[in-house]
Amino acid sequence: MTSIELLDFQQFRHNVIEQLQQDIEVVFSSVVLSDSLKQACHYAMTGDGKKVRPLLVASSYASSTRSNYVDVSPQSSANLFPLPIFVRRAMLAVEFIHVYSLVHDDLPCMDDDDLRRGRATCHVAFGEARALLVGDVLQTLAFEVLTTDLLSETDVKNEDEDTNCNPSVSTDLSAQLVSILAPRARRMVSGQMLDLEGEQQNLTYPQLKAIHKDKTGALIEASVLMGAMCAKATENQLALLSDFAQKIGLAFQVQDDILDVVSDTQQLGKPSGSDEKLDKSTYVKLMGIEEAKTYANDLFQQGKQDLIQLGQVSLSSELACSETHDTQVQDTQVQESRLLHHSYLADLADWLWEREK
Ligand code: IPE
Ligand code: IPE
Ligand code: MG
Ligand code: MG
Ligand code: MG
Repeated sequence: MTSIELLDFQQFRHNVIEQLQQDIEVVFSSVVLSDSLKQACHYAMTGDGKKVRPLLVASSYASSTRSNYVDVSPQSSANLFPLPIFVRRAMLAVEFIHVYSLVHDDLPCMDDDDLRRGRATCHVAFGEARALLVGDVLQTLAFEVLTTDLLSETDVKNEDEDTNCNPSVSTDLSAQLVSILAPRARRMVSGQMLDLEGEQQNLTYPQLKAIHKDKTGALIEASVLMGAMCAKATENQLALLSDFAQKIGLAFQVQDDILDVVSDTQQLGKPSGSDEKLDKSTYVKLMGIEEAKTYANDLFQQGKQDLIQLGQVSLSSELACSETHDTQVQDTQVQESRLLHHSYLADLADWLWEREK
């Protein structure tokens, strides 16, 4: 007998991370790079990172499509959430850009930190020149993985046929994903510049918000939008997801500022007190810990409101393209859609809010 189940968020999270880790290995087993650079790139891409951006890609995809059902029948060999290849490419691409930003962020000429993801930063382990080049290569790989078959061990079975009203994966999709990612990767760099210029300054709220939205928010937006684009989200869905992502992205960096003060180095896996050391402009400096916590929580709650609205929008568009007119089947679809659209992104927002590192 075949049974169909929805994975709970923690199962989903583990499966997405496992898929990402497998894909990282596939890319580094095939990409042509000098051994020393490959070793340092692999080092930077592994370690104890939370994989927030790939999870956002996958959750956004899952929340915009009907495909997060897993066949758990005994005959089924599926042990991973069946993520289509373009979702996996988007997950990898944004993680490449993110990790490149971390490697450069830690350099002595930037935040000058020696610990990342619980181990020596890339430049401490491999030297500054190699760390610089690691960032350069990872940035290139992000766009290569979106536009070539770098992720070559493709499980074509995962190319869903039932993910959406209009199932075919457009060949334009890679161009669309690049057009989402590239400007936001640029905004991340621009935000990093403003962050450095904001050291030892007394910035206003709008100035600080603009920095955080770019240096951190932009890649979070890219993640959510790429996931939705892979699911052929409508303009309405994309607009609501963009609102959600902007709130979550800002909240994420406010939280990062808070954790830099309230958490310890061992817990964080990176040096606590790094912001104070450089007199960075942060929300904690501007409004104090308690107010910053309230601000971050408000942003998360507002983001979840966007998701509730998204559930309604997605539901009506799904029913509109449903071919069945059977009321009972439609009722079931309504129930399932509610489950779907309120689930992984909202669970991920809760998980982020509760994070301790
Ligand atoms: C750290 O990002 C840098 C920021 C943008 C705040 P993460 O907190 O997502 O770092 P990892 O990927 O888990 O190491
Ligand atoms: C970095 O912000 C944002 C990036 C684009 C990497 P932080 O400098 O606060 O990140 P951490 O605290 O070092 O991870
Ligand atoms: Mg920094
Ligand atoms: Mg830093
Ligand atoms: Mg920080």
